[in-house]
Formats: sequence, structure tokens, C-alpha cells
Amino acid sequence: MNALLPLPTAPLPPGAVHVPGWLTLDQQRELVAACRAWAVGPVPIRHTRLPNGGVMSVRTVCIGWHWQPYRYTRTAGDVNGQRVAAFPDWMVRLGRRAVLDAYGDEAAAAAYAPDTALINHYDGQAKLGMHQDKDEKSSAPVVSLSIGDTCVFRVGNTETRNRPYTDIELASGDLFVFGGPSRFLYHGVPRILEGTADPATGLTSGRLNITMRVTGLTDTHPTP
Ligand code: SIN
Ligand code: MN
Repeated sequence: MNALLPLPTAPLPPGAVHVPGWLTLDQQRELVAACRAWAVGPVPIRHTRLPNGGVMSVRTVCIGWHWQPYRYTRTAGDVNGQRVAAFPDWMVRLGRRAVLDAYGDEAAAAAYAPDTALINHYDGQAKLGMHQDKDEKSSAPVVSLSIGDTCVFRVGNTETRNRPYTDIELASGDLFVFGGPSRFLYHGVPRILEGTADPATGLTSGRLNITMRVTGLTDTHPTP
């Protein structure tokens, strides 16, 4: 086999779409600046504590709704009790464009109304184990944006956290959407390729990932 040819990559499961280089450098810079401000407060970025006493290696700040394992609330009782920053309209519009470009479905894009985003920062050693995003009471797609260091992103299946899975790389500016039959697929980040980022994004180290979601919750019907 000719080692110069790239290895064939397994196709992604239906409903999972990877759009490399979706964000311009300017858009990445603007997102980095917005995330930097949200990381300060009103609820500062933190390593989330897990119910088993462990601490996640990624640091997370949320907007719209605050996520802690395994529920959403408006205030961050596990951090400082403050209400999280509002989910801005410009991010709703960005999410709609992402759904349109991923699926080419104008009605699905117009109906997409993300109301929360988890913003994760990974240093070179951080990882995220295989999991499903299933604390949302909605099956609307998850829109994921990556900035900074490239990562290995493990795209699994909806049945088990184990094989079959496909490892792809998510680089700075990439869009990944998982919806439809892939909405509840297991996924994780086994590795960050440290030092691969272009500092022109304004991110000085590590990887930033933003996942927009639709919680399906309202203030009168929050997570039980
Ligand atoms: C997540 O699963 O919540 C984040 C995924 C990523 O960092 O790409
Ligand atoms: Mn996830």
C-alpha cells in the first residue's frame, strides 16, 4: 500500500455532518473574545465536579442554561449561585446557519432555536470520555464549533460507548453537527494535538469547543 495516500476514513453515521473550515478566522476571533468574557462571569469557567467525586479535566462555562451533571438550571448552584449569561440572538442565528449548511434543510434551520451552549476549554492533557448528550428534553441537533488546537473526536454509535466508532480530527474553524438518527450518539475527545493552533484566532493555548443545544426546558418547566 502506498503510504503517501491518506487512509480512507469511515463514513459518518447518518445525521452526523462534519464541515471543515466552516468559521472564518474573523468569526473565530469574535467567538474567542465572547467566550473569554463569559469565562470571567457572571459564572466563571470551572472544572465540573462529577457526582462520583471526580473532576472533569476540561473547564466549562455555560450560557443560557447552566449544565451540571446531569441537569440544567438557570443559576449555577455548584459554582457561585449566579444566573448564567443570556444566550445571545447572534448565536441563535449562527446555529441556524450551521444547521442549514449541515443538512441543506431550510425549514429545519429556521425552526432551530438553541437556548444553551456549553463552552469547553481543553488544555493539552484534557480529555472527554465517551458520553451521550442526553440531559436535553429535545431531539433537536447539537451544533459543535471548534477553535484552537486540533483534537481527535471519537464519533461512536447510539447503542454503546464502545466500538464501532470512527476517529476524526476537528480542527480550528470546523463545524460538526449531530442530529436526527445521530442525535444521541456516544462521542468523546480522547486526545488534543497540542500546539497545532494558529494563534491568530486569539486563543493562546488549547482547544475551545462550543456546543449549542436545545434544552426543551422553560422556566416554568425546568429539569425536574
Ligand atoms: C461535548 O461533547 O460536549 C464536547 C465535544 C467537543 O469538545 O468536541
Ligand atoms: Mn457531548
